[in-house]
Amino acid sequence: MKPLIFINFKHYENATGRNAELLLNEFRRIKDQKNIYYCLGPGDVRLSLQFPDLNIYSQHVDYNSYGPYTGSISMNFLKSINVNGSLLNHSERRININDIKKTIENSRQNDFKLVVCSENIDEIKDIARLKPDYIAYEPRELIGGDVSVSSAKPDIIKSASSICSENNVKLLVGAGIKTSEDIKTSMDLGASGVLIASGVIKDPKPINKLISLTDHKIG
Ligand code: G3P
Repeated sequence: MKPLIFINFKHYENATGRNAELLLNEFRRIKDQKNIYYCLGPGDVRLSLQFPDLNIYSQHVDYNSYGPYTGSISMNFLKSINVNGSLLNHSERRININDIKKTIENSRQNDFKLVVCSENIDEIKDIARLKPDYIAYEPRELIGGDVSVSSAKPDIIKSASSICSENNVKLLVGAGIKTSEDIKTSMDLGASGVLIASGVIKDPKPINKLISLTDHKIG
């Protein structure tokens, strides 16, 4: 099976606002990208309407629906702009376990996919019981660095993979992923895919970097 590749645009200057649009225009040249997901910030997620051919996810979602919720980004809103999934509880956007639970429950009713991030094995156990679609293991201290989760935490990835498969949840891993070898090792350890931010977004040629990490071709 092809690895699932989630590209988190974060709030990097070259991946926000007009630059997010330019970057998506570049990435759009990649052929057959069913397994690639682009995670956009709240100000940019509406680009989904301009790029219906790409899988666009949000970087965060709130559990509330429409109503008096200032600054909110609800599943209802995201679905209305053809965004059918989101990251949740990213290390840079943490929420508490009760809110994670409510969001997962709502995601089922809304047929909305969630990638719930966890920083360690205890969190993975707690979150796996709630059965989201995906759990992303991202050790906070490796995020944005040059040491990849696949080389630094193989044992945790293996344990996470068995916890996830017992609970019928797909495992993703992220932090410091920068090479196709990192992706292969992650898959060999039981992950279904990876989350990548700086490895692609901060590269001088993000599209070349993305295609070098995968088997994709430019169309
Ligand atoms: O969501 C992915 C992210 O946190 C990993 O960041 O820069 O280590 O690839 P990075």
